[in-house]
Amino acid sequence: MDFRHQISVPQALAATACDALVLVVNSDPVEPMLDAPLAAALADALAQGDLTLKAGKSLYLHRPAGVKAPRVVFAAAGANTVKAFKAAVACGINQVKGSGARHIAVALANAGTLSDAHAEAVVTAARECTYSYHHTKPSAPAASKLDKLTLLCSKADAKGVAHGLARGHAVAAGVALARECANRPPNHCTPTYLAEQAKKLGKEYGLKVEVLDRKDCEKLGMGSFLAVAQGSTEPLKFIVARYEGAAKAQAPVVLVGKGITFDSGGISLKPGADMDEMKFDMGGAASVLGTLRAVAELKPKLNLVCIIPSCENMPAGAAVKPGDVVKSMSGQTIEILNTDAEGRLILCDALTYAERFKPAVVVDIATLTGACVVALGHHHSGLFTADETVAAQMHAASLSGLDPCWRMPLDEEYDEGLKSNFADMANIGSRAGGAITAAMFLRRFTAKYPWAHLDIAGTAWKSGAAKGSTGRPVSLLTHFVLAQVA
Ligand code: BES
Ligand code: MN
Ligand code: ZN
Repeated sequence: MDFRHQISVPQALAATACDALVLVVNSDPVEPMLDAPLAAALADALAQGDLTLKAGKSLYLHRPAGVKAPRVVFAAAGANTVKAFKAAVACGINQVKGSGARHIAVALANAGTLSDAHAEAVVTAARECTYSYHHTKPSAPAASKLDKLTLLCSKADAKGVAHGLARGHAVAAGVALARECANRPPNHCTPTYLAEQAKKLGKEYGLKVEVLDRKDCEKLGMGSFLAVAQGSTEPLKFIVARYEGAAKAQAPVVLVGKGITFDSGGISLKPGADMDEMKFDMGGAASVLGTLRAVAELKPKLNLVCIIPSCENMPAGAAVKPGDVVKSMSGQTIEILNTDAEGRLILCDALTYAERFKPAVVVDIATLTGACVVALGHHHSGLFTADETVAAQMHAASLSGLDPCWRMPLDEEYDEGLKSNFADMANIGSRAGGAITAAMFLRRFTAKYPWAHLDIAGTAWKSGAAKGSTGRPVSLLTHFVLAQVA
């Protein structure tokens, strides 16, 4: 669902016309900027213990006296950070999203300034908590009736806030696109579907989109990518989409997204439990499409190339077998000891293909290893890079995008396990440090440019009752790309 957003500089919060007023209360309420009726309600709630100023606490008031808005939520932030502010906004919106409210206004309850980052957080929070999946479940109720979001701020903050709202809209729309793609079942979201999404973005934003098929990939010598695709009757797609916001000569940022639309493991078949979740194995590809959308909307002065190798990983008579040796586009040979380590096999050819763009930097994004989930859980994506500048930029983007990643090692010693008696390398190392050996495998294909790898196996989707795509790391990537503007 999309909604309009706007800025308004209010005279009095109690006089604001909206269906619900979400007021974020910082930990330090000494200087409330609320007008009398709201200030009295807040002071009383705090005095009575109905609201405490801890993160996650909130209080809903229905038709409070002297206030124009029929619904008011006080949401405690617990800390004076953008992250805490965003969580409080989400908490407030969650309280009223199921109501009749169409127009939600957000403001600070305390004296304080709102930055562009706060504004971005309001839009992304609103969009994240009102998303619901419908495509194959049209009966699912809409998460909310929200169609208008207003951020109330001072005149002095209005300019920064306007920038933040625009960035928030772009990021949120990118996240929503990524979630929608990844949530679609694997018989809907096929490589062909991903290619269509890229073409659609191309039409909407005037991007150059090229889709290579099996024959094209054969000509290019992508023996590794082709080996994964050969076990499925679903046609592979190698998608290349280009946003040109700067002179042609300017070296582009290149994003490479793993687009396995279903990972059965192949002949090294996965166990049955939760295998359905392997439809999310195109989360890297989805995040690249989402980022492309966000960047195309914001039109920064830089060039961006998005590459998505996409296919299914299936067992079949023609499927690649453990022990098979294939030749990658780079010329290096690979002994496939485990067909379930397929992500690196499709990425390595895409990373070689990326060389032709003479990139300023290449970032690949992949739901690559279960080992990364063991190492980092579901909060941080794994970041792997030998480049200190890129590492610092990624770290900064993960903070400003509120989309955390954590750097992992890439020391030479971890390469040891990839030795093979029958090829230049094997596609798996030892079980120990599995996320790192996977990254070491990719590193062998990235000698020609600065490179980073994001393992999003733990962050791209949620399991259990809230099963679904998170749209991560679109925010991180968008912030990273925007920061590359010279
Ligand atoms: N797509 C999986 C990684 C994955 C597994 C992500 C579970 C999220 C949850 C990847 O293709 C895979 O199967 N990796 C193997 C590698 C192993 C065979 C070296 C894994 O992690 O088990
Ligand atoms: Mn696999
Ligand atoms: Zn996989």
